[in-house]
Amino acid sequence: MHTSSVALWAVAAAAALCVAPACASIPCVCQEPARTECSDHEKTSVQPDDICPGSTAWIFCDNRLTALPRSADERLEELDVARNRIADASDELRALRGLRRLDVAHNSLQHLRFLPEECALTHLDASGNRVAALDGPLAGCARLEELLLSGNRLRTLSADAFAAMGSLAHLSLAQNPLRALQPGVFRALASLRTLNLRAADLEALPDGAFAGLGALRMLDLEDNHFRTVTRAAFQGLTALSDLHLCNNHIAELPADAFREVQNLSSLYMDNNELTRLPAGLLAGLPLAELWVRSNRLEQLPALSDCCGPLRLAAFDGNRVAAPDEAALRGLLAALLREGEGAETASLNGNPVRVDALAWAARAPDVALRAVADDCHCGTLATGRAAITLCVEVECGRGASWANWVEAVRAAAQNGV
Ligand SMILES: *[C@@H]1O[C@H](CO)[C@@H](O)[C@H](O)[C@H]1NC(C)=O
Repeated sequence: MHTSSVALWAVAAAAALCVAPACASIPCVCQEPARTECSDHEKTSVQPDDICPGSTAWIFCDNRLTALPRSADERLEELDVARNRIADASDELRALRGLRRLDVAHNSLQHLRFLPEECALTHLDASGNRVAALDGPLAGCARLEELLLSGNRLRTLSADAFAAMGSLAHLSLAQNPLRALQPGVFRALASLRTLNLRAADLEALPDGAFAGLGALRMLDLEDNHFRTVTRAAFQGLTALSDLHLCNNHIAELPADAFREVQNLSSLYMDNNELTRLPAGLLAGLPLAELWVRSNRLEQLPALSDCCGPLRLAAFDGNRVAAPDEAALRGLLAALLREGEGAETASLNGNPVRVDALAWAARAPDVALRAVADDCHCGTLATGRAAITLCVEVECGRGASWANWVEAVRAAAQNGV
């Protein structure tokens, strides 16, 4: 260990004046409480002299380490070696029964068999490695609250992969080539609040895929290859409030798809291939946000039976040409249901025909407002709720109206 911590504090002060890369050998810095801060020091290995005496947190991220520190102190509680070049690790950390936080993200590790035998870890970030299987010591990490494994090479998850992890609150398996999930694989995770399965090459969700996840609040399934999702897949997700389904190939949804997720407040379905949202799909859901941009919707969903204090609904980039009066009124009503802010819905980037809005020009409770500097776009408003719509009209040149409002009024006068 180091000769004296006083000397170390002194060099630490001097080191702050030094500018990399001329200072490749600047010493690590001792920080209160008990922390060795040595990130971005161009180190190729951890030497005993690098470690502040008595420190229980060692921060060695962004170096060029090729191995985990061999000299690790048994009292070590936190080790951060993210973004190094560690490819091989065997049993360097096996004796560290006090280790709580371990960050080995963005190295080249192929397995996690170096984890402490008596695993007390609460946080493990092993994202961005080459881990192909979850086996061995990980199963003994019963106190884990956060487990981040995104960007690895996991192809399968064994049925008991998470068996002992009843305290786990956050799990990320994003960007692994999983392809499929075994039903019930997450069953033991009764405390899990967020599950990230983004870009996991998933083609479909089996019935009961998320069984046991009664505390889950956020489920991220973006960037997969789903063509649909079913009610049975979401069984047991009674607390779910955020569901991310953007960037899939969902073309059709059964009307009861969301019947099991009765606490859903934010639903994200941008960039799919939906041509319609079936009647009843959103019935009873306490939605605050609904995102269905860049799909192929030809009509808006009826929202009369949906939504909590709806704050935002986005239908931009669809194929709605003649939005139904009842659907637009239902949307305004849903936006007005509760809350105090300016609630908005948008239908920009749809081929809306101006005559489809003629009813609004005649309706005393609907205000038409132009959007500054864009003669195609305006809003239908009732109180603080507004729907932005752009219409397919030729602007200016030779037309008798100057903006959106006049275009809609002209359509109404023409008796359409
Ligand atoms: C439903 O979600 C909200 C957050 O949107 C949360 O406060 C509430 O506790 C959840 N209800 C249940 C039954 O889990």
